[in-house]
Amino acid sequence: MNKTLRKAVIAGNWKMNKTPDETKALIEEMKPLVKDADCDVVLCVPYVDLYAALEAAAGSNIKIGAENCHWAKSGAFTGEVSAEMLAAVGVPYVIIGHSERRQYFGETDVTVHDRVRAALDAGLTVILCVGETLTQRKQNITMEVIATQTKIALAGVSAEELKNIIIAYEPVWAIGTGETATAEQADEVNGGIRALIAELYSQADADAFVVQYGGSMNAKNAAELLAKEHVDGGLIGGASLKAPDFATIVAAASK
Ligand code: 13P
Repeated sequence: MNKTLRKAVIAGNWKMNKTPDETKALIEEMKPLVKDADCDVVLCVPYVDLYAALEAAAGSNIKIGAENCHWAKSGAFTGEVSAEMLAAVGVPYVIIGHSERRQYFGETDVTVHDRVRAALDAGLTVILCVGETLTQRKQNITMEVIATQTKIALAGVSAEELKNIIIAYEPVWAIGTGETATAEQADEVNGGIRALIAELYSQADADAFVVQYGGSMNAKNAAELLAKEHVDGGLIGGASLKAPDFATIVAAASK
């Protein structure tokens, strides 16, 4: 990443893992390991763990996020949680549009857009996930897919609001598979996303914009990925459930 222009953000996505007690224990283990980080450190946890996470992280440099939010402020949406509710409990970050939401729970570019809108309106910082499937990569339409996902998600978002958005490029074929995009592949797509932001907003907005990579990023490959110009951090699944591994990634982003 280019440290003169941007600060890295290393975010964990715990997915459907950890109880409140386990959340507290893991954050307590992580706190001393990441306290000197020269990057932003975020942990996105299941809704039921948010209180425990906020309490355990209080006073530390770890910020807490949720893994999704609904687009409405309130109403008859059984099982959903609104951005307003997250803001009310003091959660500053939210992941939106993760490929697992798109794949298993019918999220579309349009509902992702609506959720982004709601999160911004509630004052949250959004980690917006975009990424192509293996079929799409083989069809050579990676950048088209990502541009479409990004343009729809960001429709109507002002340059001022853009400051509260991070994009995580997560190739679907690299998530939880142990297969990482090469540093060159990650840099190419992340650079493409930055170019798109420059086109939609301005070069200055694009230069300041954080684009993470996610997909089997781990303690071993993080340094190589993060050394690339356009890889401004990571969205980490599996490796964020192990304190030493997550701390190694945070250290790599702090160099
Ligand atoms: P893994 O790091 O487990 O591949 O998960 C990546 C991810 O989906 C983060 O959101």
